[in-house]
Amino acid sequence: MRTAIVSAMHEELSAVLALLPDEQKQAAAGRDFWVGHLHGKEVVAVLSRIGKVAAATTATVLVERFAVDRILFTGVAGGIARGVQRGDVVVADAFMQHDLDASPIFPRYEVPLYGTDRFGTDAALTQELLSAVKRALPSTRLHRGLVASGDRFVSSAAESQALMRALPDVLAVEMEGAAFGQVCRDYGVPFAAIRTISDRADDAAHGDFLSFIDDVASRHSAAIVEAFLRAA
Ligand code: ADE
Repeated sequence: MRTAIVSAMHEELSAVLALLPDEQKQAAAGRDFWVGHLHGKEVVAVLSRIGKVAAATTATVLVERFAVDRILFTGVAGGIARGVQRGDVVVADAFMQHDLDASPIFPRYEVPLYGTDRFGTDAALTQELLSAVKRALPSTRLHRGLVASGDRFVSSAAESQALMRALPDVLAVEMEGAAFGQVCRDYGVPFAAIRTISDRADDAAHGDFLSFIDDVASRHSAAIVEAFLRAA
């Protein structure tokens, strides 16, 4: 069983990389893939880079070149729903693209020719991830539900409020998950994702995001990945 551990940015994955005792770096598609073991489990760790296209490339290479059996994404997100606050953790049940609009040919948000506007994460893997978060971060507030991806860093109260009005069930926004969800659906590879809330996607989002990824994101990711692989 080979597990891919993915984050968008180095700050989100550095503590996980430091845990791999025997990693070997392999280059593909302009990225470094660290192949090794963590708690005796085979892992491939990689930085996807930022945005949906970069995410789709990474997911495809993980499946085609590295033959991973499942993909786990860990990173940060901006909180959208009321009550989803900085430092909380969101485990994704499903992803959608908040910036996708092929209307009037297809309904707003629908992924053309897939007949749906959202891709669910793998139920069993998501449950395992949820249990790992509870063990690793017992005092952290946890949410589970829909996460929206888009090729935008949402950084104004006006935009986050507009998103909340248009998509009332969205908990948080980020820039990669829906692409992983779609590629993993295409290949039939189980996918699960966890996001720690770094900012509220409002006028303070930029500063909040930068301080959070330095201070907390990597440690959170490492604690969760360790708890997950120890049990897997
Ligand atoms: N990732 C973390 N915060 C974000 C935001 N406000 N918008 C998009 N992606 C994010």
